[in-house]
Amino acid sequence: MDHSLLFSLLGFVFLASIYTSGAAADDVLFSQNYKDLWGNVGHVLHLNQDKEIQLIFDQSSGAGFISKEKYGSGMFNMKIKLPQKDTSGIITTFYLKTERDDNRDEIDFEFLGSSSNIKLHTNIFINGQGGREQEIDLWFNPTIDFHDYTLLWNQYQIVFIVDNIPIRVFKNKTSSGGSFPTQPMNIIGTIWNAPAWIGQVNWADAPFQAHYKGFGISGCQTQTTNDPQCQSSNLWWNEEKYWKLDSAQQKEYENVRSKYLVYDYCSKIASSSPECQN
Ligand SMILES: *[C@@H]1O[C@H](CO)[C@@H](O)[C@H](O)[C@H]1NC(C)=O
Repeated sequence: MDHSLLFSLLGFVFLASIYTSGAAADDVLFSQNYKDLWGNVGHVLHLNQDKEIQLIFDQSSGAGFISKEKYGSGMFNMKIKLPQKDTSGIITTFYLKTERDDNRDEIDFEFLGSSSNIKLHTNIFINGQGGREQEIDLWFNPTIDFHDYTLLWNQYQIVFIVDNIPIRVFKNKTSSGGSFPTQPMNIIGTIWNAPAWIGQVNWADAPFQAHYKGFGISGCQTQTTNDPQCQSSNLWWNEEKYWKLDSAQQKEYENVRSKYLVYDYCSKIASSSPECQN
């Protein structure tokens, strides 16, 4: 290998990452916007002057963190590096959720499976009703580096985004009989296991460490359901360019879906359901 070529490639990657990393959000301390949610002592590690968090999962406990505030709209981003080794039976998450469970609204990224074959599940609960699962394969190994996972939520659409590529769009079809999340939600990250659902953990590989960073939040703080202030066009994520995908995003979206979509609940439910119409 020609070392000068390698170094100039590395230099290029380094520069490219400076210009795309959203440095401002990365510099925000965890404690400014988030707090520990659960886990035994030592299972939420605060690293790098509180600019990075490690959630630890072992036989004694999983772990989680939660935003201090609730939000009614926003563009919620987290940089996540998933645990390595055999993570079968383990679920790592980044999601929005209301405080109550019974009538919950919830918008989920959930990582399942093991390092060589991790699947990204997404789901949406509206007023206690879930069952809107989709699943994709990722086009990279999410355990090696941090990647960006983003949820756009405004009054027009919810978009799930991975490294700037939209992987799922859920439109507000309220006017044609669909449902759409309306309640204030916290931002949450967790690692845990769900044996009944995804199988047994390989404890020989414990502890498992999920890494999170990028604790700046672009969201509309509120305690109020359907808060009109959170639909204000003064908030940048409510501007017209965020009402639907532009044609370049639409192409990327269709490309990802054609190559990596594993499961879509819409292919199972009645095709007349408004939420499954494009
Ligand atoms: C969904 O769209 C309708 C208009 O079709 C609007 O009245 C409503 O506020 C929107 N819902 C949310 C939660 O933004």
